[in-house]
Amino acid sequence: MILVTGGAGFIGSHTCVELLNKDHEIVIADNLVNSKIASVEAIKQITGKSCLFYELDINDEDGLRALFRSHDITSVIHFAGLKSVGESCKFPHRYYSNNVGGTLTLLKIMREFSCKSMVFSSSATVYGRDNDPPFTESMPTSATNPYGWTKVIQEQILVDQAKADPEMRIALLRYFNPVGAHPSGLIGEDPVGIPNNLVPYICKVALGRLPYLNVYGNDYDTVDGTGVRDYIHVVDLAKGHIEAMKYLDNNRGVLTVNLGTGIGYSVLELVDAYSRASGKEIPVRFMPRRSGDIATSYANAEKACELLGWKAELGIEDMCRDSWNYAQKKM
Ligand code: NAD
Ligand code: UD1
Repeated sequence: MILVTGGAGFIGSHTCVELLNKDHEIVIADNLVNSKIASVEAIKQITGKSCLFYELDINDEDGLRALFRSHDITSVIHFAGLKSVGESCKFPHRYYSNNVGGTLTLLKIMREFSCKSMVFSSSATVYGRDNDPPFTESMPTSATNPYGWTKVIQEQILVDQAKADPEMRIALLRYFNPVGAHPSGLIGEDPVGIPNNLVPYICKVALGRLPYLNVYGNDYDTVDGTGVRDYIHVVDLAKGHIEAMKYLDNNRGVLTVNLGTGIGYSVLELVDAYSRASGKEIPVRFMPRRSGDIATSYANAEKACELLGWKAELGIEDMCRDSWNYAQKKM
């Protein structure tokens, strides 16, 4: 059985759907700090299959131990973590404690039960600001904020753990910018309050709940001066996890791999695509650059293709269409 930590969240719920579609047995552990139990119901509705759910904080060592005692967990897909950059700057201790502490507790319990396989949610944020895109996995890592540092540190912990135990199988998946939603419109991303990230913000503007999009910076050295990112459809991303798990079945040690499309779009290009998909005008207002942002981020996506046989199949139109479908149904 596969343990999915953070499986009620945005990327986790989509990955649970793909796992169930492939007939894997799964158990979700999520404390619902940034998700709702409704997404677990939606996973069941989409797949017509059942999955177990524990409302559990992964920092709760006894609770995690009890879960491992009750189920034969052979591998873990570890999404659980806090992910807001701004919040991490205000509350660094909370971020280090939840993210790094959670991973340490999880590793401890995995060791107790001889569970040796983990797929970990890392981020393109570990490329920091000193590398030139396209980002390749061998580049040095760093971060510009506490959230980013939790990813750099968790990667290091997992690498060291694998060095110490040659039977470990670890996949560090560096996601670029996950967007979109399941085509059913039943699961997607709906952050609480005013969104920080681009696509959820655009959704609210298209729905008429916010008057315009603030575009942070139009003087970058990019196609139109606005920031460029590698947006990836969350369903493609979810499928990448299935391929990473398969890879770990046959390979020990650490796999570090980018999950991106290899293509960058500017903020204005994305706004245009979203406007076409939704048939809504998205008014924009140019603002100064957002602190901590880099001009351009996109993946070299070759390694995932070579080692996992995985590449993103959905394009920007699919991302905008599915995001808009979800926004209308659920936001
Ligand atoms: P999300 O917030 O929707 O999902 C994370 C889930 O983990 C939530 O359901 C939350 O309730 C749960 N959680 C948090 N702390 C927990 C704890 N201590 N115990 C149990 N559950 C806990 O976020 P997401 O976008 O689905 O991201 C999943 C993972 O991918 C995170 O680790 C995130 O840092 C990483 N990631 C996300 C992005 C992105 O843009 N969404 C990019 C790169 C990496
Ligand atoms: C951000 C985080 C990153 C994290 C990711 C997923 C920062 C610096 N980086 O990535 O660490 O892994 O979210 O949670 O916060 N933009 C606007 N207006 C908006 C929102 C965004 O113009 O209202 C622009 C940004 O300046 C950027 C692009 O849109 O150029 C994408 O922004 P966003 O969706 O927040 O993602 P990242 O900043 O790439």
